[in-house]
Amino acid sequence: MRVSPAKIAKLRTLIFTWWKSNRRDLPWRNTHDPYRILVSEVMLQQTQVSRVLVKYEEFLREFPDVQSLAKATPSQVLTVWRGMGYNRRALYLKKTAETVMETYGGIFPDTQAELTKLPGLGLYTARAIMVFAFEKNVAMVDTNIRHIITHFLFDGLPQSEKIIHESADLLVPNGRAWEWHQALMDYGALAMKKEKKAMNLVKKQKPFKDSHRYYRGRVVDLLRLGRVKEKKLITDFINQYGKVWDYFEEIISGLIRDGLIERKKEYLSLPG
Ligand code: ADE
Repeated sequence: MRVSPAKIAKLRTLIFTWWKSNRRDLPWRNTHDPYRILVSEVMLQQTQVSRVLVKYEEFLREFPDVQSLAKATPSQVLTVWRGMGYNRRALYLKKTAETVMETYGGIFPDTQAELTKLPGLGLYTARAIMVFAFEKNVAMVDTNIRHIITHFLFDGLPQSEKIIHESADLLVPNGRAWEWHQALMDYGALAMKKEKKAMNLVKKQKPFKDSHRYYRGRVVDLLRLGRVKEKKLITDFINQYGKVWDYFEEIISGLIRDGLIERKKEYLSLPG
């Protein structure tokens, strides 16, 4: 074993002591509904907590359970998703809802093997559902948790994924996986800023305007208002943003490939 039990005990105490006076009250912490946990985790993947707080409530008002999300059209889901970016996440979420309805009669599975088979669910999200919905005693590893482990257990020296995961497993206090991970999430988000800066890991926002992803978002935003002729859309985009015909044609092909928009005859629209 690479990490001593004393080091493990010390880190657990440090995190839980800090958490007593710093815990955040977040709405997805007041539920064990796997559907709600999944919605929060998918939203939190690439979006700040402050923005998720607003969208989470709105999304659940519109789609309160797995059945309502499964029944919705992709276009309805993308409309509620507006402002979140990374629109593909919304479609994966909807596909997962469909699979849970069709394969599991609307009841979420609770094993890693079954959860990781759901569309778009990786190991992290599967474990998040296991821990936050079903209180299973497994370890989750995301970027922040990885930093905490390297910082406190390995003097900040980067470790292999295998070692990080083994250490994460050892750290989970038996029967307290739920609290432990919520505490780690808060510690990682609120208390590790200094350390992350020292390690040069504070997220630098990439220039977003004028990126591929930026124009993908603008196309989806436009089509939220209704269908548009492809030729007109590309011409308008060239007039507004510059670039050449092929650039926007490629953006459109990518969106069609990903199922985010549809082409019917000369028109583009949101799917469904
Ligand atoms: N990010 C991902 N999951 C989270 C949670 N449960 N609380 C806060 N931030 C998170």
